[in-house]
Amino acid sequence: MSRTTTATALAAVVALLAAGCGAIPGSVSSVDEPEFTRELPVPPLAESTVTDGVRTFRLTAQEGTTELLPGVETPTWGFDGPYLGPTLRAERGEKVAVEVANDLDVTTSVHWHGMHLPAAMDGGPHQPVEPGGTWRPTWTIDQPAATLWYHPHPHGETEEHVYRGLAGLFLLDDDASRAADLPREYGVDDVPVVVQDKVLDDDGRLVLTDDGGEPGTLGGTVVTNGVAGAYHQVTTERVRLRLLNGSTARTYSLGFADRDVDLVATDGGLLDAPVRLDQVRLAPGERAEVVVAMSPGETTRLRSAEVDLGGVAAPFAMGGNDAFDVLELRAADELAPSPEPSWRPSEHAAEDALHGEDATVTRTFDLDERTINGERMDAGRIDEVAAVGSTEVWEVRNTIPMPHSFHVHDVQFRVLTIDGQAPPPELAGPKDTVYLEPRRTYRLLMRFEDYADDVLPYMYHCHMLLHEDQGMMGQLLVVEPGSDARPGPSEHLSGHAEHAAADAGREVGDGHGPRASVVDPHAAHG
Ligand code: C2O
Ligand code: CU
Repeated sequence: MSRTTTATALAAVVALLAAGCGAIPGSVSSVDEPEFTRELPVPPLAESTVTDGVRTFRLTAQEGTTELLPGVETPTWGFDGPYLGPTLRAERGEKVAVEVANDLDVTTSVHWHGMHLPAAMDGGPHQPVEPGGTWRPTWTIDQPAATLWYHPHPHGETEEHVYRGLAGLFLLDDDASRAADLPREYGVDDVPVVVQDKVLDDDGRLVLTDDGGEPGTLGGTVVTNGVAGAYHQVTTERVRLRLLNGSTARTYSLGFADRDVDLVATDGGLLDAPVRLDQVRLAPGERAEVVVAMSPGETTRLRSAEVDLGGVAAPFAMGGNDAFDVLELRAADELAPSPEPSWRPSEHAAEDALHGEDATVTRTFDLDERTINGERMDAGRIDEVAAVGSTEVWEVRNTIPMPHSFHVHDVQFRVLTIDGQAPPPELAGPKDTVYLEPRRTYRLLMRFEDYADDVLPYMYHCHMLLHEDQGMMGQLLVVEPGSDARPGPSEHLSGHAEHAAADAGREVGDGHGPRASVVDPHAAHG
């Protein structure tokens, strides 16, 4: 049914295009330009306690209200507060635990996006946290310094939970990041910038539009760290912005009209060296760390320019033509000196490196409207089985002229080639999510290092959350070599599957979950 709805919507867009009709009701999103009058809120660093060598954090999902727009109280969700959540921070080699409590009246989950960890700790659809419940994952940080993030992942409900405000950053540090010549004072010259777009109704409530627009709801209100029209007071010659696209559907092209930036890190950590760029395209879930130079007393704005979505059918209907300011930077009259960005490789660089010649397995993934390799997500079915220790190439292709992306849990991959060509510099670093331009083939190199589990899978999926919720997701088991686990229905997972299905409300198999037009935290899923 949703298949038909989507196909019809896309066909309608294409038909209108063919007819030369410029206006597509409900599909064109223009973004409002607010006054930049509110100081950028910086999510607090999460407190933690260390006992017996384990650093333990606590997060509670809860309801609240937030002034996304000044003077307008919007019902929202957050962790330990009304909107977004605190920034977790840990060091490579540290053992961490998180007590995730759920004070909402619906089941949710918390997934550690970009983290290498056991499937049982991953926080996907198989690790639900029920209302009043607590989930306590624990693992050892074993990957390079990076800007990771966390967000709910309950099957069929992820778009709504993230949209209401459940998301936060998880920063990792290591020897290389600690010794790097990079701005590093959190909230001062090392600033998280979570960019999201919203639709608010006349009463200030969040709305998920359900008009068949692709690739989902595109909002006219853009917020950074939960406020529209934010400024940050700069006190140093350079500032490092940790950019996260925390939107459900919109892809941004972030940069400054009047200067270039130094891109220093992508999803999974530092590049080999800084790359000077005018803008960086970020699809939902992607991160980039950029360093921007400022002069005393000046003001400039981070903006999202018209974004090249590749060969999509109607870019203007998918946010491609939208250009708007996101965050104002106001430099003080005197700026403290900042070093030119540079760093040396980590002592772990050799063990972390991926080598194309080690790849022994190639898998192909074709993304259609809402399917991957012709299938929709089934929580009781294993789609792929990989062996611990193996290096693989995943050939991923978006087969239709609609935006999609591809995210793989557990690993950071390297983009080897796009249509046989080396990737642009902004896709040359460690990645866990990549925008898929239509009809191009992305070859991704990854290695499954450890954490074999014959029962619990990792997810891979489109990170446009409407697509993910409607079934554009598959399940990957990572097993010991020689395990007899095979793709197909899983008896062991049927219990989880039932749970996930019951909880997502209805029609998980059909993939078309309920989409309230007004997202009212009190009226949800009774
Ligand atoms: Cu950010 Cu499977 O998700
Ligand atoms: Cu998609």
